[in-house]
Amino acid sequence: MSAASSISGQRVVVSAGPTYEDIDPVRFIGNRSSGKMGFAIAAAAALRGADVVLVAGPVSLATPAGVQRIDVRSAAQMHAAVLAALPAQVYVGAAAVADYTPASVAAGKIKKHAGPFTLELVATADILADVAAHALRPRLVVGFAAETDHVEAYARGKLDKKRLDMIAANRVGLAGSGFESDDNALTVYWPGGERALGPAPKTALAEQLLDLMSERLR
Ligand code: PMT
Repeated sequence: MSAASSISGQRVVVSAGPTYEDIDPVRFIGNRSSGKMGFAIAAAAALRGADVVLVAGPVSLATPAGVQRIDVRSAAQMHAAVLAALPAQVYVGAAAVADYTPASVAAGKIKKHAGPFTLELVATADILADVAAHALRPRLVVGFAAETDHVEAYARGKLDKKRLDMIAANRVGLAGSGFESDDNALTVYWPGGERALGPAPKTALAEQLLDLMSERLR
């Protein structure tokens, strides 16, 4: 079986986009993820004949052809939707999931008062780590790492700590890569290896990442 076709017929779950953590009925904590990277991976996997479930945070992108899309808003909803989509052969966590969420959501709009305002945040569940530790663990669990500095050290730390098979690291905070841009550059790390991909359009990087993943699935 060729590397390109070894993902055909496999169930692939992809998360994409940001999560929104509500503070009150009008405000939330979000981030700059557009969903482009994750949607490109979902589209490319579907074109290769995979059975793709795309769990999408709030984004304004069209659903790729042949992909089953599940829309969510918060990290908790994304966690539930991803775990409910198992069993799968592959999980790709391209979403920018909030690490913290408000301890409670105010029922009414929070009013402005004099002086500082403190918001209590609590940690969210780690979707990627929970998928990797799950009884129905996919054969391939692929994470992303968005880093502004010490990219390899932080990415390899996440690879180990979350018990992943691969992690695709991108530098964020620079024009032309990472969040929102149509282009990106990735360095993919796995135990004992690494490969630099791009810079290139996210659509092309998705193909290259799938080639790497397909090699691992053979
Ligand atoms: O959406 P775009 O605009 O195209 O931008 C693409 C991207 C920059 C969002 C994407 O390439 C990317 O890097 N996604 C991961 C962003 C991120 O949240 O990285 P992180 O280093 O904070 O998290 C590491 C990994 O843990 C990620 O796979 C993330 O999905 C996962 N995670 C994090 C927290 C959490 N509670 N659960 C998780 O599963």
